[in-house]
Amino acid sequence: MPGRYLLRTFGCQMNEHDSERIAGVLEERGLEQADSAENADLVVFNTCCIRDNADQRLYGQLGQLASEKAKRPDMKIAVGGCLAQKDGARLLERSSAVDLVFGTHNVARLPELLDLADVSDGPVLEILEETEVLAAALPASRRSPFSAWVTISVGCDNSCTFCIVPSVRGREVSRAATDIVDECERLASDGVVEVTLLGQNVNSYGRDLDGRRPLFADLLRSVDAVEGIGRIRFTSPHPKDLRPETIEAMAECASVCEQLHLPVQSGSDRILAAMHRGYRAGRYLERIEDARRSIPGLTLSTDIIVGFPGETEADFQATLDLVEAARFDSAFTFIYSPRPGTAAAGMNDPVPPEEKRERYARLTELVDSIAWSKNLDLVGRPVEILVEGPSKKDPSKISGRTRGGKLVHVSDDDRIRAGDVVTVLVGGAASHYLTGDLAL
Ligand code: SAH
Ligand code: SF4
Ligand code: F3S
Repeated sequence: MPGRYLLRTFGCQMNEHDSERIAGVLEERGLEQADSAENADLVVFNTCCIRDNADQRLYGQLGQLASEKAKRPDMKIAVGGCLAQKDGARLLERSSAVDLVFGTHNVARLPELLDLADVSDGPVLEILEETEVLAAALPASRRSPFSAWVTISVGCDNSCTFCIVPSVRGREVSRAATDIVDECERLASDGVVEVTLLGQNVNSYGRDLDGRRPLFADLLRSVDAVEGIGRIRFTSPHPKDLRPETIEAMAECASVCEQLHLPVQSGSDRILAAMHRGYRAGRYLERIEDARRSIPGLTLSTDIIVGFPGETEADFQATLDLVEAARFDSAFTFIYSPRPGTAAAGMNDPVPPEEKRERYARLTELVDSIAWSKNLDLVGRPVEILVEGPSKKDPSKISGRTRGGKLVHVSDDDRIRAGDVVTVLVGGAASHYLTGDLAL
């Protein structure tokens, strides 16, 4: 099956990481990366279906690619990931250009499925309900020599009423701690200095393993002991499962970064209950206060949904109040998108779309102004960054991230190379980034 492949990825870090595995599996079979669809013998989409606009993007891109395929019928199109898992055969009905549909549980079988698609008269579809081989066991073609994602669990056992993830990613399955630590050791010996531990709910890590241990906190300590890994991040912890032991481990482990992404979703207790989140706004605020007390300089970020079914102006105001109280360094904000098959999709939703958009605009304005003021607090201070490479925003600068995960654009300096950990004096701040110069 040699030839050239193009891989397009949508969605979250899990998908980005799965794509490294998809690329790894294809490259092991002798395929090379193509730089455009025109040069590709195979185009693979790794899809997302978290909100309707993710679905629309994929179908839009498939439409565009269909005309390329009409010119070159030998080109193969494969669609995998969450939308494929959700839509399955419907995807083939909506696009006749697709040759193969695979899901979130059978990345390991991709080469066999492609071979099958080669000899088959019609399109091939394989969607499994359970994971046979954890993608983590597959070869990966990593995007960065210095930073790596490490899967600690797949799937999700929660039932947030707005969320499609449990139905596409399945039940939570944790990887054995020894496998995770071995992978981190291997990565460190390859030159990786930063790992991001990935799971839909990292705080429930290990609950499905024998003896219900280790806890996530134990895992953090084990990865902290890996020599060569100087920065450990993780995403996402669920607020209801954030235990004091995790905060303690974060505070005590030198390599665990001072960063917490803790999705709150809403500041209204009524909406949080309807979302099935399992905590109240007051408890969330207490948890972050504990975390900030224990971890000096903590960078805190969150996810917020606006316009959940039945959200009143008073509920929305409670979200704004929570944002004011929490003073997040940053927040991903979303307008609620009904996902067929989820509990919330059947709820009465009288709020007009214009009103949701207007709330969304008010929320992002507040989030951005707080983010900016938090970044301004850093002006004049030194921060440690891991250099990533040339800045995408301004080619005369190079970029890196602080331990808190903040993006910093640094005036180019020939003493700095990608992969270096350097100290930068912050000179300027915007809502989404800092600027600075190398500190001597
Ligand atoms: N497992 C992660 C979240 C994964 S989805 C966690 O629980 O932290 C990432 C974010 O997308 C969620 O935190 C939520 O804010 C948003 N999201 C999920 N479903 C959504 C929907 N139906 N409409 C709008 N936003 C949604
Ligand atoms: Fe979705 Fe909730 Fe699971 Fe996160 S914890 S993936 S929001 S069901
Ligand atoms: Fe991630 Fe989207 Fe799937 S957010 S888990 S790629 S639905």
